[in-house]
Amino acid sequence: MFSARTAWDRTPNLLSARLEMLERRGGSPLDLTVTSPAECGLAQDEAWLRAVLASQPLGAYAPEPLGQRVARQALARDLTRLGAHLEPGQLVLSASTSEAYSWLFALLCDADDSVLVPAPSYPLLPYLAELSSVELRAFPLPEDPLGSLDLDGLEAVADESTRAVVLVSPANPTGWLLAEPDQARLDALCARRGWALIVDEVFVEFPRRGRPARSSAARPAEALTFVLQGLSKSLGLPGWKLAWTAVLGPAPERDEALARMELIADTHLSVAAPAQRALQDLLAGAAAWRARVGLRLDQNARLLQDARPADAVWDVMPSAGGWTAVLRLPHTADEIEVCLALLEAGVQVQPGHFYDFPRGRWLILSLLPPPARFAEGVERLSRTLDRLFPRR
Ligand SMILES: Cc1ncc(COP(=O)(O)O)c(C=O)c1O
Repeated sequence: MFSARTAWDRTPNLLSARLEMLERRGGSPLDLTVTSPAECGLAQDEAWLRAVLASQPLGAYAPEPLGQRVARQALARDLTRLGAHLEPGQLVLSASTSEAYSWLFALLCDADDSVLVPAPSYPLLPYLAELSSVELRAFPLPEDPLGSLDLDGLEAVADESTRAVVLVSPANPTGWLLAEPDQARLDALCARRGWALIVDEVFVEFPRRGRPARSSAARPAEALTFVLQGLSKSLGLPGWKLAWTAVLGPAPERDEALARMELIADTHLSVAAPAQRALQDLLAGAAAWRARVGLRLDQNARLLQDARPADAVWDVMPSAGGWTAVLRLPHTADEIEVCLALLEAGVQVQPGHFYDFPRGRWLILSLLPPPARFAEGVERLSRTLDRLFPRR
C-alpha cells in the first residue's frame, strides 16, 4: 500500500533507547544537543511578538504565490545589511527552508537526477531528497573552517544526472564558511557545467571570530543560484514558518526559475499571511536578540575551550560560524561507545556519524544551552573523555 521511499527504518537507535531507559529510571542527562533558542533561555520577547501581530489586520487574505510584495520589499531592504542588493522580485517566500529545498528539487530535478551535497552535512537533507526521488552524491568539505573547497573532488562525484550543488554556509555542524574566492570558482564551475548552485545560509547571521555577516547573495552570479534563509534561525522563530529563497543568475534562467517557482508556490500557498505581514517589524527588531545569541555562542565556545586540558588527546575544532561545536576524538574511538559513556556520566551529545562525516571520529554539541548548564555539561564531558582517552 505504501511507497518504497517512505519505508524508513524507524527502530530507535542505541542512543535514544539508552536515553529513554535513563529517563524512565528518573535520570535526565544535561542535554547539550538542544538547538531550540526558546529552550535555552533565548526566547524572543513575548510582549514584542504580541505587539508585532497586534499592529496587523489578522483576518485579511490576498494570496500572492511568491509572497506578499510588502514582505519581500522589507526583506530586500534588510538583506542589504548582509551586502546583498536584490529586487523584491528575486525573493520567494516559503514556510521553511526545508520546504524551499523540496521546491528546488522539484524545479531542477526529475526522478533519479542527482544533487551534490557536502559531507558532513545536516541530517534532514537525505530525507528531503528521498521524498523528491533525488539522489544525493557527497563531496568532502575541508576540515579547516576557512579551508578551500576541493572542486576536483566535487566534480569527481558528478555525472550527466547532476543538476545542482548544495552548500551550507556556515556549515552545519562544522562552521565551515564559503569564502568569496571559493564561491567565485564554484559559480564559474556551475555555470560551465549547467548546474544550479544552492547555498543554505540559515546560520549566516552568526559568524564567529569577529567576521562580519555576509550573504552569498552579495555577489553577482554567473550560474543560476538560490540562497536560502529563514526566521527559524535568523530570529529563532521556527514556529512562525517563514523562510526565503533569493534567486540570482543570468536573467533568462533566473526569470524562468522564478516563473516556475511561482507555480510551485501557488500549489501550496503555505506561508501564513499574518507572518508575512509582520515580517517588516520582525526584521526591524531582530538586532538585539541576535546580539544575545552571539554572546551566548562566544561564551559557551570559551567554556568548552577552557574545559579541555592542554594535553588532552581530543580537540575542539575551530569554527567560523553557526550554533554547534565539533570535537575531534582519537581515530580509534567508537563514537557510539563514547556517547553511551557520556550519557552514563550525565551528558548528552551527538555522534559525528549522524552528520555523515566522511572520515575521523567526532562529537557534536550545541553551543546554545544556558552557560551554567553548558559549563557543568562540558565539565562532565571532559572528565569522561579523560578517563576514556588518557592524556598525552
Ligand atoms: C543547515 C540547515 N538548513 C535548514 C534547516 C531547516 O530550517 P527550517 O526550519 O527553515 O526548515 C536546518 C535546521 O536545523 C539547518 O540546520
